[in-house]
Amino acid sequence: MNQFNLGMIGGGTVGSGVFHALQQNSALLTARIGVGIAIRKVAVKAFDEPRPYPITEKLMTLNWRDVVEDPEIHIVTELVGGTGIAKTMILAALERGKAVVTANKALISAHGPELFAAARKHNTSLYFEASVAGGIPIIKVLRESMVGNRIDRIDGIVNGTCNYILTRMKREGAAFADVLADAQRLGYAEADPTLDVDGHDAAHKIGILASLAHGFWVDHHDIHVEGIRSLTPLDIRFAAQLGYTIKLLGMVRMAPPASGKKNSGPRISVSVSPTLVPDGHVLASVNDVFNAVFVSGSPIGDTLYYGRGAGKDATASAILSDIADAALDRKHGTPQRVPPFVAHARDGKVIPY
Ligand code: HSE
Repeated sequence: MNQFNLGMIGGGTVGSGVFHALQQNSALLTARIGVGIAIRKVAVKAFDEPRPYPITEKLMTLNWRDVVEDPEIHIVTELVGGTGIAKTMILAALERGKAVVTANKALISAHGPELFAAARKHNTSLYFEASVAGGIPIIKVLRESMVGNRIDRIDGIVNGTCNYILTRMKREGAAFADVLADAQRLGYAEADPTLDVDGHDAAHKIGILASLAHGFWVDHHDIHVEGIRSLTPLDIRFAAQLGYTIKLLGMVRMAPPASGKKNSGPRISVSVSPTLVPDGHVLASVNDVFNAVFVSGSPIGDTLYYGRGAGKDATASAILSDIADAALDRKHGTPQRVPPFVAHARDGKVIPY
């Protein structure tokens, strides 16, 4: 087959960003992957909902079931977010054998094992590159490029909203609440911005990375989480006087093996907290909405991945990459890449931070 039909659920900030990017780069994408992607339907909340890019009116529907129940649609994007109806939508699409592409880190974090099991059961795949660090292809890095490495350490600035707020608090001495309002206006923050500022969005993301890196599911309840809400411009100024920049870091660390147990699985700690980063460290200079993920592995050594971590265009880039993978997997049969979260480390354990 040389053309696959795409159905989109969600036509807001990110959804319209994907629509726009697909239209802009359609010829380029087709030339590169040798398969055409045709948008067939877009399920939206309201025809006139505010969106940064227009969506062709005749493609819009108010009923998401029009997308998942259309037998001509092969690939579905879920860009609704949250852990409620989005789960029903994804499961309904997977049950019909469609490939699903999502940016929904909260949902994967809460229900990953069930969703991936559903995809396997129905002989299809769930793609989630856009769920962590926006435009940085960190899922591909851990799942593909570093598949032959033991992962010793991950440090990530994975929440663009918090990094934007901390950057402006340091640069301008601005107050937390004023900068948060700007982050919301710019479309970086979650619908519920407490997920950003209290560290939960970063915990969803670092949990997904930890699971990929260590091969067992990391439950988000096992992640120690602290956000940035209580930081003041004074904290940031004192840190600067001592030669540090405060960053919200997601961290994954290997712990020593359990004593007396020779063949126990990996033991890791996973946490999110405001952290004093020495000004000379590369992560200290990651500013504004940018994200960066530092991964240390063996044999590779230290690596760093940097890019725009939030916003419609960076997210659209990751979604397009997953749509391309979904189309190629369909064209060539069985997905070629390592399935996510294979329990290759059955006895792995998250230990308290
Ligand atoms: N609210 C998220 C962030 C969006 O600020 O990073 C991208 O996941």
